[in-house]
Amino acid sequence: MKKKLSALDLLEMKRSGKKVVWVTAYDYWTAQFAEAADMDMLLVGDSLGMCVYGYEGTVPVTMDQCICHAEAVRRGAPNTFVIGDMPFLSYQVNNDEAVRNAGRFFKEARMDAIKLEGGRRVCPQVKAIADGGMLVMGHIGLTPQSSGQLGGFKAQGRTAETAIELIEDALAIQEAGAFSLLVEAVPPEVCKIIRDRLTIPVYSIGAGVDADGQVLIVSDLLGVFQAFTPKFVKRYADIAEDTINALKAYVDDVRSASFPEPKHGYTMIEGELEKLMAELGKR
Ligand code: KIV
Repeated sequence: MKKKLSALDLLEMKRSGKKVVWVTAYDYWTAQFAEAADMDMLLVGDSLGMCVYGYEGTVPVTMDQCICHAEAVRRGAPNTFVIGDMPFLSYQVNNDEAVRNAGRFFKEARMDAIKLEGGRRVCPQVKAIADGGMLVMGHIGLTPQSSGQLGGFKAQGRTAETAIELIEDALAIQEAGAFSLLVEAVPPEVCKIIRDRLTIPVYSIGAGVDADGQVLIVSDLLGVFQAFTPKFVKRYADIAEDTINALKAYVDDVRSASFPEPKHGYTMIEGELEKLMAELGKR
């Protein structure tokens, strides 16, 4: 059976230079497949807003939606380290709400950690959640919940000045008690500086190969999500095309009466059809 990683294992992997590989998951079957593929970690990302619900961004996603998906993922991947993503307005208002909502991920969905977006301005929440005994992952760079303030879904830290802001954010998040940090859509040089300066693991999505590990959104990686594909995505499958082809074949089979075949159905017990016909004939 697969051994679930702990936060200490993740720290040790950083020290020994072993890359951590993770992906998002939103449902039971993807979680099962990811665990079968020996994935180190899973994130029940608030990207489910776009990938599952068809929203334009992550802002409309609610805590209840996240908990529901996190429960399904936990059932599908009981032996994988799973992180719940704190949706917009579940932690921004105050520390009490942040702790209570983080706690829901652990109590109701048996998550191993939570993740929230932001740098220095969310340090009080990171500290409050960590002080509550919970593992918190930070997330800096392109933070989709505040993409309006960032001028859209754009790369961050491309100037010396903004790179310094990111480095200071990263150090502050570590200081506040986070056990790891995700850096999104940042030049690789900047992510490497952050990785080298932090003692906690630093993971990348669109931030280069020098991080302690990589995450991708499963719907991008598998070619499911059609609206747009970020530059940093590598597609490993075209599930959209395979699915459409499979569904078309089913439509054709039903319309031409080539499905179902006898092997897809049940037989009557021997002699029972004759009895039935005889009985019907009498009526
Ligand atoms: O919600 C999400 O999927 C994320 C990604 C950036 C990993 O936070």
